[in-house]
Amino acid sequence: MDFDVHRYRNHFPSLQRKVGDNCAAYLDGPGGTQVPAQVIAAIAQYYETSNANAHGPFVTSEETDVIVERTREGMAAFLGAASPGSISFGANMTTLAFSLSRALSRLISAGDEVIITDLDHEANRGPWQTLAEKGAVIHSVRMTSGGQLDMDHLQSLLSPKTKIVAVGYSSNSLGTVNDLTVIREWTRAVGAWMIVDAVHYAPHFPMDVAALDPDFLLCSAYKFYGPHVGVLYSRPGLLDHIPTDRLRPQLAEAPYRIETGTLNFAALAGVRAAVDYIALFGNGESLREQLTSGMALIHDHEEHVARYLYDRLSALPQASVYGQPFGEGLRAPTVSFTVQDVHTADVAKALGEQGLFVWGGHFYAMRVVETLGLEDMGGLVRAGISLYNTVEEIDRLIDCVEALKK
Ligand SMILES: Cc1ncc(COP(=O)(O)O)c(C=O)c1O
Repeated sequence: MDFDVHRYRNHFPSLQRKVGDNCAAYLDGPGGTQVPAQVIAAIAQYYETSNANAHGPFVTSEETDVIVERTREGMAAFLGAASPGSISFGANMTTLAFSLSRALSRLISAGDEVIITDLDHEANRGPWQTLAEKGAVIHSVRMTSGGQLDMDHLQSLLSPKTKIVAVGYSSNSLGTVNDLTVIREWTRAVGAWMIVDAVHYAPHFPMDVAALDPDFLLCSAYKFYGPHVGVLYSRPGLLDHIPTDRLRPQLAEAPYRIETGTLNFAALAGVRAAVDYIALFGNGESLREQLTSGMALIHDHEEHVARYLYDRLSALPQASVYGQPFGEGLRAPTVSFTVQDVHTADVAKALGEQGLFVWGGHFYAMRVVETLGLEDMGGLVRAGISLYNTVEEIDRLIDCVEALKK
């Protein structure tokens, strides 16, 4: 495979970190990836040269405006949006989702129906559950024991009363990828908005919002090598008609319409640098081509390492591995497991002490852990693969899990 992971690892200063004698193995990407040097440099450079508020008549403010608009262009290319006017920024995905739900609540009447799913992170459930305050009826789509959405259940819940279907692109706990093309057809047929949580999908697959055509889609740059910034894509022309919370002087049109207060300009400079970083992995004339080919290359590497992890864990008698096996369709490189008779918190702690950074628990996808009946175990141990992870790190993890039982 044409992926020189050891060379690329040098791009990330934090990979030098040690825990005791062990190199840190960052298998916590689904909780947030590490950041390459050029992202750190872009943030520092903003503060060194261009730090100002926006829309001012002097050079640092003008530079700030340029940085924000270049970042919108970069994110539009990353997501496959036709125009940067579809890209709004906020503190993080959760805050943007709450802003959007508050705005949409003004268009919701008693008896309207809202569909969420059991597979989702609470950030794509809680904001839409608040619509019950307006009398909306909330339904949650079941998850199968194999970690898939129960599509028959979803279809049976849809009706002309459905106003919103909020669905994840990929599960942050099991790696499941949902068939959004079908869900898009169904939501269109009943006239409902489709709102997509792409936080876990965006770091692992090339995105194409123009083809998928969701009404809204959210992601978070700190999951794909950038700083903590939330991103909202809105279908062209849609946000202009949504009654968002806004101050009187705030620009009323998209994409500004939902951007309250001062944005984190330094972080936005870092988001553009993260997009440019990913583009370096690809080829082609346009930034879009570089990003889609770059993401495809990163995806192949991640899948190679994740499949190795899945296979090695599956071979351990004391481990139970959850989620769809590799090779049976699209799947994110995120592998969750439990270890027989060892509480998940103890597994995660023991691995952490060896410099293997994994999460243990529900990762805010609480319904997944409840559906799998794993509350007493303390939930799942989750190892996520990012572009800088290696099979050697997986070997270390397996040795450590094996040692737990001795
Ligand atoms: C699938 C998914 N959705 C939403 C979120 C929330 O994102 P943010 O931290 O940007 O609010 C996360 C964060 O882990 C996530 O994994």
